Amino acid sequence: MTQAAAEHVLVTGGAGYIGSHTVIALVEAGRKPVIVDNLDNSCEEAVRRIEQIVGEKIPFFEVDIRDTNGLDEVYKQYPTITSVLHFAGLKAVGESGQIPLEYYNCNVAGSINLLQWCQKHNIHNFVFSSSATVYGDVTRFEGMIPIPEECPTGPTNPYGRTKMMIEDIIRDHVRANAPWNAAILRYFNPMGAHPSGLVGEDPLGIPNNLLPYLAQVAVGRREKLFVFGDDYPSRDGTPIRDYIHVCDLAAGHVAALEKLEAVDKERKQLPQGSPELKHGFSREWNLGTGHGSTVLEVVKAFSNAVGKDLPYEITGRRDGDVLDLTAKPGRANSELNWKAEKTLDESCSDLWRWTSENPYGYKKDRHDK
Ligand code: NAD
Ligand code: WQD
Repeated sequence: MTQAAAEHVLVTGGAGYIGSHTVIALVEAGRKPVIVDNLDNSCEEAVRRIEQIVGEKIPFFEVDIRDTNGLDEVYKQYPTITSVLHFAGLKAVGESGQIPLEYYNCNVAGSINLLQWCQKHNIHNFVFSSSATVYGDVTRFEGMIPIPEECPTGPTNPYGRTKMMIEDIIRDHVRANAPWNAAILRYFNPMGAHPSGLVGEDPLGIPNNLLPYLAQVAVGRREKLFVFGDDYPSRDGTPIRDYIHVCDLAAGHVAALEKLEAVDKERKQLPQGSPELKHGFSREWNLGTGHGSTVLEVVKAFSNAVGKDLPYEITGRRDGDVLDLTAKPGRANSELNWKAEKTLDESCSDLWRWTSENPYGYKKDRHDK
C-alpha cells in the first residue's frame, strides 16, 4: 500500500454539489475520503449515490465544522487524516446580504475552527474552495479579462467577503506556521453533473443560479427562465461566464492535493534553517476553462441537449451582476498539470441526464416545489 493510500482525506461539505463529485474523483485516484457535512444544503442520499458509483462505503459524519467535539470524534476514528478539502459553507450571494451574520459565522468562524482543529491534530495540507467572486467587477481594470490570479480582488457582497477573509486568514496562518501547505482554489461557474446521472446539483427552494434554474424549466418545475438583462456590451447583450464541468473541477482538487503533497516532500528535504522553511506554502489557482459563454449561448446549448427550445423572457439586470468573469487558467494548467477537458455541450448533456433522471433531485417526492 502506498503512503497516500493509507492516509485519509477529510472532505468538509462532501455531501454537497462540488464536494460529492470530488469524493468520487478522490476514490478514483486511490484516495480514502471521509465526509463531514451538517446536511444544511444536502442529504445523506448523496452519500449513498456516491457509494453506488465508487462501489465502496464512504465514512460519513453529520457534523458541523464549528463543532470541535464532533470533529474530534471524527479524528478519533480516523487518526490517519493528513489533509483537508474544505468545501463546507453557505454560498447564496443574495441570501448573504439578508443574513450576513450567519454567513460570517458559518463560513469565517467555521473555517477558523477547522484550521485550529487541523493545527491541534498536526494536519497541514489544506485545500480551500474559494470563488471567482473575490475578483468583483474586473471591468474596473484594463486588460484583466481573462482574469489572472494577480488581478486585484474586491468582492462586492457579504458572501464574497467571507471568501476573501478566509483566504486572508489561511495566508496569514500559513505564513506563521512553516509545516503548512494550502491551496486556494478560485472556481468560476461550476455546472453539469456526474456522467452516471446518479449525482448532481440539488438546490433547495428556487434556484439562484442559471443552470439549476434552466434545468427546472426543462422538467416543467418552472415556467420559463428570466434572463437578467440583454443590454451588456457583449456579443449578444447578455453577460459572459466561464462555465466549468463539475467533474473537471473535482479533478482540479485531486491535482491541488497532489501538488501540496509534492511541495511538502520537497520542503522536508531542504536543509534545516533554509529560508524557505521560515513560512508555510500557500498559492491561489483559478479553476476555469478560459472560455466565456453568454447566457443566451448557454440557453441554446442546454436546449440542444434537451432537444427542445426552452422558454425564456428578457428582464432587467440583476443587482451586482458583472459583464464578464472568464478565467485565465494558465497557472493551474502549468503548476497543477491540470486542464478543464469537457465542453459546454458535454456539461449540458450530463446536466440533462441528471435532471431528467432525477427531476426532484435526491428527493423522491415533490415537497420542495
Ligand atoms: P453546496 O451547498 O452544495 O455544498 C456545501 C456543503 O457544505 C453542503 O452539503 C452543506 O450541507 C455543507 N455545509 C454548510 N455549512 C456547513 C457547516 N457549518 N458544517 C458542515 N457542513 C456544512 O455548495 P457547492 O456548490 O458544492 O459549493 C462548495 C463550496 O464551493 C462552497 O464553499 C462554495 O462557497 C464554493 N463555491 C461554489 C461555487 C458554485 O457556484 N457552486 C462557486 C465558487 C465557490
Ligand atoms: C450566471 C449568469 C446571470 C440566473 C454565482 C456567484 C459566484 C459563484 C458562481 C459561488 C449571470 C444569469 C442567472 C437566472 C439569468 N458562486 N442568470 N437568470 O452570478 O455568475 O455567479 O455563482 O462562489 O459567487 O455569484 O452565476 O448562475 O447566478 O449567473 O439570466 O435565473 O446567468 O445574470 O449573467 P454568477 P449565476
